[in-house]
Amino acid sequence: MSELSVNHLLGIKNITEADIHLIFETADHFKEIINRPIKKVPSLRDITIANLFFENSTRTKLSFELAEKRLSADVINFASSSSSVAKGETLIDTVNNILAMKVDMVIMRHPNPGAGVFLSKHVNASIINAGDGAHEHPTQALLDSYSIREKLGDVAGKKVVIVGDILHSRVALSNIFALQKLGASVKVCGPMTLIPKHIEKLNVGVETNLRKALEWCDVANMLRVQNERMDISYFPTTREYTQQFGLNKAILNSLDKEIVVMHPGPINRGVEITSDVADSKQAIILNQVENGVAIRMAVIYLLASKIGHNIN
Ligand code: CP
Repeated sequence: MSELSVNHLLGIKNITEADIHLIFETADHFKEIINRPIKKVPSLRDITIANLFFENSTRTKLSFELAEKRLSADVINFASSSSSVAKGETLIDTVNNILAMKVDMVIMRHPNPGAGVFLSKHVNASIINAGDGAHEHPTQALLDSYSIREKLGDVAGKKVVIVGDILHSRVALSNIFALQKLGASVKVCGPMTLIPKHIEKLNVGVETNLRKALEWCDVANMLRVQNERMDISYFPTTREYTQQFGLNKAILNSLDKEIVVMHPGPINRGVEITSDVADSKQAIILNQVENGVAIRMAVIYLLASKIGHNIN
């Protein structure tokens, strides 16, 4: 049986194309299961997973928790605001105390880039990065590429534009790595102030004109402006940002083809995307959320298998 090349999922950068295909094939199996009347399998009933969220989340946190429960794992949840982190306990001490309760796997979202890599070097458990600052969000990129594969049949050969606040986006970086490993061409589009310097070194095209970017692409992935990561203004006003980089029906309808519209959530309706586009047939935003559960089941299952748990 194939297995992942890694013991942790810390980012897309350090996994292989074969890893991604294995995760997709495993997710296909779990997607079929979670659409049955009985959505649960006993595969991981001998494993305990801790969900550590040091930063807010709706989709990722609930999706991981559901994936764990669908696999019959035991689950504990941790929110930093109600924990002893507020009393000054370190990350390593916090996690080692949780692991002392016989926890096997840690899912962690953290505001600091590299927090997952750091943890993986200091504790004895498999770590899944659920988003570390503006660095990586690997399971989001996996579910995004999986959703493109589901909608368009394949990711290879497709043209994908990622639009918006690329500078502060872990979703953008993980998507660039995943899409390129799977053979897609990638462009980023947004105000130059929100495009990282030297991004061309990642073999990514840069476009500052939304219409041109949309005319080029098969898929547009619209990102939220991450005001919580900004201490200065990166564009004059939100209204002007929306005029230049917001996706609306008028632009979509004026294209001579039908593109696929994606968004990782949470959406700022009326800023980066209008409601009529977000709720249209061209948008696969809720399919992305649905696929997130199957992808996370696949990642957890394959990592648990790698670290030697009894898999039924
Ligand atoms: N896409 C995403 O990471 O959403 P949450 O912040 O709600 O988890």
